[in-house]
Amino acid sequence: MSSVNQASIKEAAEYIRRQHDVKPEVGLILGSGLGVLADLMENAVSINYQDIPHFPVSTVEGHEGELLLGTIHGRSVVLMKGRFHMYEGYGPELTAFPVRVMKELGVQSLLVTNAAGGINTSFEPGDLMLISDHLNMTGKNPLIGPNDPALGVRFPDMSEAYSRRLRQLAKEIAVSQSVVLREGVYAGLLGPTYETPAEIRMLRTLGADAVGMSTVSEVIVARHAGLEVLGISCISNMAAGILDQPLSHDEVMETAEKVREKFLGLVMAIIPKM
Ligand code: HPA
Repeated sequence: MSSVNQASIKEAAEYIRRQHDVKPEVGLILGSGLGVLADLMENAVSINYQDIPHFPVSTVEGHEGELLLGTIHGRSVVLMKGRFHMYEGYGPELTAFPVRVMKELGVQSLLVTNAAGGINTSFEPGDLMLISDHLNMTGKNPLIGPNDPALGVRFPDMSEAYSRRLRQLAKEIAVSQSVVLREGVYAGLLGPTYETPAEIRMLRTLGADAVGMSTVSEVIVARHAGLEVLGISCISNMAAGILDQPLSHDEVMETAEKVREKFLGLVMAIIPKM
């Protein structure tokens, strides 16, 4: 079926281990325009996705494709600069393959970040939103197919997909930095089209506060693997139909650039405590 099996996970992890002696405890996935965090790593070694056995290769402009190993404030981390999306043509299990590899490397907690459209009308572009929960609106699930009990249980619990402990930690750090941290539900869609205004009204009715095209398959696999998850969205634009203006990837990238300092300050302080 898919190429995601224990042998491919172990091969990828083995290749990565040979590049650096750091044993990562925290995994980071950086979304569109948020890759600058990688520049602040200490003792970093960068590995191109294309060199890692079984890794897919990211294809979107503004999404880079490197894995970095190193430390942040003394904490050993493995960081993905650029991620894989289903709209690129990858199956959900492949978009989440790096999460399996992180687990194999020894990671225990995962920080996922993304750019998202704001559905909650009290949000503004440039806001940061702690993900309290998600709606998987992709119609897909990375765990479909035979379950390998060595990787996780057949029917994983998702009642606290985004760790209460880590959310509390993020909130406390945000307060200490006087950063406004919103909180809400992230709806993950397939893309690559942005949503229609009718779809945004539907998502709002269903309880979504923000919408994006990533994250849910990674978080499902992370929970299957027993990782503790923290998610932060950068509200890069208001979702379709809220403002009288078209959406563009340029706007997403521009907003990410503007929130850079706030985002970095928050995340850099959270990582050592994860
Ligand atoms: N919709 C979907 N994905 C997104 C958006 C959006 O408005 N903004 C950034 N990623």
